Amino acid sequence: MGIKNKDLLGLSSLTPDEIHLILETSESFKEVSGRQIKKVPALRGKTVVNLFFEPSTRTRTSFELAAKRLSADVINFSPSTSSIVKGETLLDTARNIESMQADIIVLRHSSPGAAETLSKGVRSSVINAGDGWHEHPTQALLDLFTIKERKKEIQGLTVAIVGDIAHSRVARSNIYALTKLGASVRVIAPPTMIPLHLDRLGVKIFSSLEEGLEGVDVIIMLRLQLERLGRALLPSIREYARLYCLTTTQLQRAKPDVMVMHPGPLNRGVEIAPDIADSQSAVILDQVANGVAVRMGLMYLLSGTGHE
Ligand code: CP
Repeated sequence: MGIKNKDLLGLSSLTPDEIHLILETSESFKEVSGRQIKKVPALRGKTVVNLFFEPSTRTRTSFELAAKRLSADVINFSPSTSSIVKGETLLDTARNIESMQADIIVLRHSSPGAAETLSKGVRSSVINAGDGWHEHPTQALLDLFTIKERKKEIQGLTVAIVGDIAHSRVARSNIYALTKLGASVRVIAPPTMIPLHLDRLGVKIFSSLEEGLEGVDVIIMLRLQLERLGRALLPSIREYARLYCLTTTQLQRAKPDVMVMHPGPLNRGVEIAPDIADSQSAVILDQVANGVAVRMGLMYLLSGTGHE
């Protein structure tokens, strides 16, 4: 069994079996990063191009490390020093890169749907590394991997996703994946940050942090997307923090062995108290470490070697 499509554009279209396959394949790559020589030849001779139109620390570095640990050649393409500034389109840029035999293009873009548009115009595999507020599938995959690592099973868990759901591609991808794998998902946010018809995705909606956290196994705190946020959605950042910042008091509502996650970057003191972010309950740096394994597993499967 393999992945049906040449691309990974989002998790809404993956089957539970495909998600499990990516997680299991990634597990086999995790130990590579613990070796003295962190390299396997799985993607030798392949070329991966990182095409990031938005800033990134974790995702871009992680894709680069993952590709290098698989022995691929990696190009980090910087739009600001490319002919994009002369007016070349995304598709023309990608087609030019592809003509130099790129096998995988990793795209981060501010427009929802950019990765899908690109995937229709090139033969290379396209991986969506975040497209506007739409999806961030590899973040959700590494979140699932981290939950499974600590809790063993995802089915039957209660997971709370807290914060700016409306602008969060991380929330959307996690909702699709967690519900497919049998978790019960709660979203906790001010009413202005809940998208219309969200209940159709099978989640329970709370506006009170205290009520929403009662008895949960996992908490995923979201970054307040200040760059995408309409000012009208919030009275003030301070007011938001007073109602939705995860503090020690709020955390006591959850199960004693709750795990606290955050995709990063953190706004310390806004959505998460610094002592919680640095506590034993938090797995934020485990998420980052697992991102490399998950991206190795995914690129291995998409490169076609997984089908051989
Ligand atoms: N989680 C995440 O996407 O972080 P970066 O924006 O730093 O890549």
